[in-house]
Amino acid sequence: MPGGVNSPVRAFRAVGAEPIFARQAEGALLTTTDGRQLIDYCMSFGPLILGHAHPDVVEAIAAAAARGTSYAVTTEAEIELAELIQAAIPSMERVRLVSSGTEACMTAIRVARGATGRNKLLKFGGCYHGHADCLLVKAGSGVAGIATASSAGVPHVCANNTLVARYNQREDVERLVSEHGDDLAAILVEPVAANMGLVLPDEGFLAFLREQADRCGALLIFDGVICGFRFCFGEYQQICGVTPDLTCLGKVIGGGMPIGAVGGRADLMERLAPLGDVYQGGTLSGNPISVAAGLATLRSLQKDQPYDELERKTQRLTAAIAEAARTNGIDLQLPTLGSIFAIVFTDQPIRSFEAVELTRQDRFNTLFHALLESGIYLPPSPFEVCFLSTAHTDAQIDETIAAWQTALQEMNEA
Ligand SMILES: Cc1ncc(COP(=O)(O)O)c(C=O)c1O
Repeated sequence: MPGGVNSPVRAFRAVGAEPIFARQAEGALLTTTDGRQLIDYCMSFGPLILGHAHPDVVEAIAAAAARGTSYAVTTEAEIELAELIQAAIPSMERVRLVSSGTEACMTAIRVARGATGRNKLLKFGGCYHGHADCLLVKAGSGVAGIATASSAGVPHVCANNTLVARYNQREDVERLVSEHGDDLAAILVEPVAANMGLVLPDEGFLAFLREQADRCGALLIFDGVICGFRFCFGEYQQICGVTPDLTCLGKVIGGGMPIGAVGGRADLMERLAPLGDVYQGGTLSGNPISVAAGLATLRSLQKDQPYDELERKTQRLTAAIAEAARTNGIDLQLPTLGSIFAIVFTDQPIRSFEAVELTRQDRFNTLFHALLESGIYLPPSPFEVCFLSTAHTDAQIDETIAAWQTALQEMNEA
C-alpha cells in the first residue's frame, strides 16, 4: 500500500512518526495491534458520534448483513433514511444516497453546473470537500482567486474553474462574484470550517454568501459532511438560519459505514438521472449495511438528543485544558463548537486558514506524542479537529485532563 495506508493522514507524516495500527475499538477506546488502549479523540474523523461499536449500530449491521450485503435494488430502509434526513433538514426536499462525502460534493457540483449551465465554482481556502479534481484547489500564496491545484494530476482546466476566497473574507467573495458571477455555478462552503482546525463563520458571513449567490444566480451549497447531525439533529443551517440550495452529508449519517448524501431543492435534485440530464450512479449507493448503520445512529440521536450533554463534556475538557495552558504560560487557542474542538498554538483568535498556517505546528507535534505516550489519541494533524462521542465517560475525560496537564507542564519546562 503506498505509504502503508489507504488514506494519507493515517501515515502520521504531519506529526513525523510511525503510525499506530488498530486491532479493535469499543466506546471511546481504541486498542492497537501492540495491545495499547487509547482514549480516542479522532473517532474515525467524525462518523462515530455514538462511539466505537455502539451496540445498536452493531446489531443493525449484523441483522442487515444476514439479509444480504447488496441488492442494487431499492429498499424500504433507504426510503426511511431519506425521510429521516428530510424531516431533520427540510431544505433537502429530495435526497440521493451515495458512498462517501467526496461523492456527495462531486454530485452537488455537477447538479449545480447542470442546472445553471455555468462552469465555475467558488470555494474557500482551507475548506476540504473530498478529493474530486475541481475541489483539490487552494489559494496560491494567500492571494484569493489565483487558483493552483493542491495535487499533481489535477488538470489546469479543472483548477481554473475553481475560484478560491479566504474564509470569512467578504471582500474576496464580492470581488470574485463581480468578476466571474456570470459563469459562477455555485458557492461551496463548510458552514463551520473544520478542516483547518476549527474556524467558525463570522456573524452574518453565511447570510452574506446566500446574498452573493442570489446576486449572481449561483447556487449555495453547504458541505455538511462534518456538521450534519454533529451539533443538533439536523445541519448547521438549522442553527445559523441560512438555507442553502443543496446540502452534502456523510460521516454521522452512516454511523461508521461508507455513505454520503446530497439533497436540496426538488427542482434542482430532479435534474439527476433518471429524471433529468445530470448523470450520477453507484453500484453500492444506498448499500443496505451502510443504511442500517446510519438509521440506527440517527434514531439513537433523535431519541436521546445528546447534544447538550456532548457540549457539556467538551466544555469541561477544553476549559480544563485552557486553564492548564494558562498556568504553564503556553499560548493556546481551543476553538470549540458542540462536541468538536481544535488545538491551535497561538495567542490570537483564529478567523482564517492563513492564520492557522502561521501557528506553532511544532508544538502540536510535541503535544501529540506526549499525549499518545499517556494513552490519549488525537487526530494526527493540527488541521483536523478532535471529536467527542456519547461514549466518552467523565472518568475518561478526567484521565485526559490529567494527561494534558502533564504534557503542557513538560512543554513549559522544555
Ligand atoms: C467537510 C468534508 N467534506 C467532504 C469530505 C470528504 O468525505 P469522504 O472522506 O467521506 O469522501 C470530508 C472528509 O473529511 C469533509 O470533512
